[in-house]
Amino acid sequence: MRDDDLALNTRGPADERIEPPASFVEQANVSGADVAEFEHPEDWDRAAALLEWTTPYDAVFDEETMEWFPGGGLNATGSCLDRHLDRRKNQRALVWEGQRGETRTYTYLELYREVNAVAAALRSLGVGEDDVVTLHLPVVPELPVVMLACARIGAPHAVVFAGYSADALAERMNTAGSAVLFTCDGYYRRGDAVSSLTRTETACVDVEGDVTTVVVDRLGSDYTLGDEDYQYGALRDAHAGETVDPVERAATDDLFYSYTSGTTGAPKRVTHTTGGYLAYAAWTSHAVLDVKPRDTYWCTADIGWITGHSYVVYGPLALGTTVLLQEGGTDFPSRRTPWELIERHAVDVFYTSPTAIRTFMKWGPEYPERYDRSSLRLLGTVGEPISPQAWQWFYEHVGGGDCPVVDTWWQTETGGHLLATLPGVHDMKPGAAGMALPGVSAAVVGEDGTPVGPGRGGYLVIDTPWPGMARELSTGERWAGRTEEEAPPLSAFEWAYPTGDGAFVDEDGYVTILGRVDDVLNVSGHRLGTMEIESAIASVDGVAEAAVVDVDHGGSRGLFAYVSPTDNSPDADSLAAAIGAAVENAIGRFARPDEVVVTAELPKTSSGKIVRRLLTDIANGEEPGDTSALRNPEVVGEIESSIFGD
Ligand code: PRX
Repeated sequence: MRDDDLALNTRGPADERIEPPASFVEQANVSGADVAEFEHPEDWDRAAALLEWTTPYDAVFDEETMEWFPGGGLNATGSCLDRHLDRRKNQRALVWEGQRGETRTYTYLELYREVNAVAAALRSLGVGEDDVVTLHLPVVPELPVVMLACARIGAPHAVVFAGYSADALAERMNTAGSAVLFTCDGYYRRGDAVSSLTRTETACVDVEGDVTTVVVDRLGSDYTLGDEDYQYGALRDAHAGETVDPVERAATDDLFYSYTSGTTGAPKRVTHTTGGYLAYAAWTSHAVLDVKPRDTYWCTADIGWITGHSYVVYGPLALGTTVLLQEGGTDFPSRRTPWELIERHAVDVFYTSPTAIRTFMKWGPEYPERYDRSSLRLLGTVGEPISPQAWQWFYEHVGGGDCPVVDTWWQTETGGHLLATLPGVHDMKPGAAGMALPGVSAAVVGEDGTPVGPGRGGYLVIDTPWPGMARELSTGERWAGRTEEEAPPLSAFEWAYPTGDGAFVDEDGYVTILGRVDDVLNVSGHRLGTMEIESAIASVDGVAEAAVVDVDHGGSRGLFAYVSPTDNSPDADSLAAAIGAAVENAIGRFARPDEVVVTAELPKTSSGKIVRRLLTDIANGEEPGDTSALRNPEVVGEIESSIFGD
């Protein structure tokens, strides 16, 4: 989505309105009366009330410092583990389904013991409060265990998605100044064992200073540990039975760092705080996902991204529910997998992505319909816009027409949902993400920074602070999208966070998301900066210039790279192979372009800016938009004929 397309994207409100089923409304965690008068900021007290505080806070929000719950003290594991021991120590906290058909479960008591042993182990390694621990692990139970163990001793964790390469891991460890790494001997990719030891070794060479590495045995492979390395199981066993008192953290202290893509070539580190973030993750799990302690709850996100932090680990465990974790991904090992799991575990709440839903649609309704889905009460989606058709399919064929579907809009920087329907309160509008949640305020503004009317496209901004906001948003570095000079002036607001998304609002306040307006691509729900990928491509010998765009593969988004070579007649196949390898090395396999198009020149404006909008049109097989302002309009036709023939 480019700026000049925004104004064209004006549509009326979503055509359909669907009331939440009466049976759901009766039992919903939050009713219309509960939120009828939600006063900002004092009513955020209600979110904080979902946690266990060891020191009461002085105020809900300090407008001067932009801090939430200042003066308050707590430990995240006090809320997620200790306080559940009284009433639900024998209830399952985690149920893990591995790719090889294994199942492991942890009751709240077992999880508490495991986390304590690992917290003691961390201490024995010399990890203290505020030391950053990096985790580079697939979805195995050790990942949430180590996250919680870090939280218990006040050491912020930094989870790096397991798909990231050695270079990307080293860069993130260096940014965080992290000297401790939890990794694994390997993982399973669609059933095949893939060793990751070389990747870890390569990364550690590039990390400044010594690194202590703890290796989780996932493959059971033979490997030799270095002097500074430990085997996870042995280390944990050496501390089994030990308890570690949870360290009191200030509400404003760091809980963790998460990495995402921004508009520069470097990864963007986002900091979440202990009190504000946790209260917000718990509140939105309660109010939007309607999570209850007796539920079995399944969010399919990888814990390596923010959704897994807020809605696999912290929110649901703070509420004392049973969390299902799955290693394989919803399309592995078979098309029956998601439905078998829902039936076998009697899943109550199923939270997934539009990409997964489109895959389910392709497979056909006969798969879910063959299984018992009567346990389902609520469905949710996150990560990208969902089309009204995919929404309806999910609602009818998975929810059987009697589970509300919440389309939750949020970002790494926001910590938790900001736009959604409250499932027991609001009508749903397929295709619209929903409204600003109670206590949150959103606006869509035009180029001049003032709100545009209903149905008109513009920039989505959030104009009240909320407890889940990343520290960077409180301290002024809040330009998620563009540089301050480039962003629309937001002087119409006392405070506003420009989200980097384009959107429009309808008369009823429902927001429809149109996509990113900055140089960040959303590929199957993962944010990737064009600069990050382009600089990896530009490092390849023989590449003069590159531009990447996202392309719609019949619903799921992939990457298209356009490259102009230094040499007039390069071997396109070997150049494409070198580019794929360079991206895989710098970022990871998941960022590899699906297609590399070699072209003599890239389309540019008279000032020399690459016009990605045209490249996106071409990649998507659409008629390219206006080329009159180009300094080299002829290249558009040349690129088209090199892809599609004359
Ligand atoms: O463009 C929006 C899209 O994902 C971006 C945030 O990506 P990330 O920080 O990786 O977090 C993903 C999980 C929260 C947003 O700027 N996005 C997220 N949810 C939705 C969405 N787009 C449309 N509808 C959504 N429900």
